[in-house]
Amino acid sequence: MTATEQASNGNLPDGTVAVVVVAAGLGERLGAGVPKAFVELGGQNLLELSEAIALSLEHPIWLVRVVPNNYTGERERSWENGEVVGQAVVAGGSTRQESVAAGLAVIPTGIDHVLIHDAARALTPSDVFARVLAALEAGAQAVVPALPVTDTIKQVELQGDREVVVDTPDRASLRAIQTPQGFKLETLRDLHANAVNADATDDAGLAEQAGVVVEVVEGSPDAFKVTTPQDLKYARYVLSTRGQTS
Ligand code: C5P
Repeated sequence: MTATEQASNGNLPDGTVAVVVVAAGLGERLGAGVPKAFVELGGQNLLELSEAIALSLEHPIWLVRVVPNNYTGERERSWENGEVVGQAVVAGGSTRQESVAAGLAVIPTGIDHVLIHDAARALTPSDVFARVLAALEAGAQAVVPALPVTDTIKQVELQGDREVVVDTPDRASLRAIQTPQGFKLETLRDLHANAVNADATDDAGLAEQAGVVVEVVEGSPDAFKVTTPQDLKYARYVLSTRGQTS
């Protein structure tokens, strides 16, 4: 019997947390020739790095990998650290929101909390995962890690053929939002089931639209999203400062 089958049979240990790592984006801005999550950094790809950090949580984990269609042949893995009590690999959709929904669909019943993580944020420190989960366990329905914004952000719009500034929001109240984003599993399933559009760039956006309070915890500069070749260079540097080769 595989770990997946055991979990589906209702033998989940107390405190099991579901972690969905979304890795189905093509990452064309990176121009790496493979989907972004499969780009290697220090001997592991971004997806594997993300999973290894998620597994440092001191909880049993039910792990879902959401991958591009042609990567679903990936086998279930065994892990050196962490307690993986079940796992699944599923094909993602054409938007991030669809990919998350595909991941949620395979999580067995009996789990209270889920963390949704971008594979592209492969260097997110484990303490960010721990803070998000702690807020959920303290009663939050939805939690996001965030950093203050240091740039002045302006809202722009196209007027004719010119892009012009139309507003400058107060920087003190702006935050850059990262992942993992944490939810009560039942709440997030409902949010996805009732979503009107399929193009939310994060799950907390669905919560806000539905009037669910989203709590904010401290994120980390290392939880940046690898998007461009420059980000990849910086990620190599960050990994090297953690004592790993790149
Ligand atoms: O495109 P973006 O960088 O915002 O993607 C964030 C995360 O969502 C990435 O890890 C990416 O692989 C994932 N994603 C996905 N399915 C999509 C689009 C993005 O799983 N259709």
